[in-house]
Amino acid sequence: MPQPENTPAEPRFSAESPHHSDLTLRVNGTVYDVPALDHRTALIDLLREHLGLTGTKKGCDHGQCGACTVLVGGRRVNSCLVLAVTCQDAEVTTVEGLADGERLHPLQEAFLAHDAYQCGYCTPGQLCSALGLLAEAEAGHPSLVTPPGRPPGPVPLDDAEIRERLSGNLCRCGAYPHLVRAVAEVAR
Ligand code: FES
Ligand code: FES
Repeated sequence: MPQPENTPAEPRFSAESPHHSDLTLRVNGTVYDVPALDHRTALIDLLREHLGLTGTKKGCDHGQCGACTVLVGGRRVNSCLVLAVTCQDAEVTTVEGLADGERLHPLQEAFLAHDAYQCGYCTPGQLCSALGLLAEAEAGHPSLVTPPGRPPGPVPLDDAEIRERLSGNLCRCGAYPHLVRAVAEVAR
């Protein structure tokens, strides 16, 4: 039935204020209910300040460094640019969700083996970004350096592809060659 004009289909505003909403989302397999969340809260601040998941790092807070990268619905996003309120019922993965208990994710193992970090501040974002790029290439998503007209199917991740697909993540320490080697090892 059509909704009367100006009536939200499913209002879930908090009684407290029209600028707050109750939010439910799943982070690393755990469901979180967040009451009366201010609509201006960025996803990174929800993760770090409300949920205590401080693995995700804030670098520029302007969508330019990639340090805050997490996966939402399996796709990488800059969490400083995402309003948390848009993540109702979303599946979010942060760096804390990569390891399986004490067993590190293969990407984490490869980062260690190839010394792919120095200060490590960018590492959580690099890891989440690498996880996202592996899935994107497997799904056949082209990058800027993917040859046009290639047949559909997974995109082979050579060094140029990895560099391009990681280019949204800055590392002030310059661990880039190590990062490429680590991701290449897992992509093989
Ligand atoms: S902190 Fe989000 S891109 Fe830099
Ligand atoms: S390891 Fe220091 S910023 Fe990347």
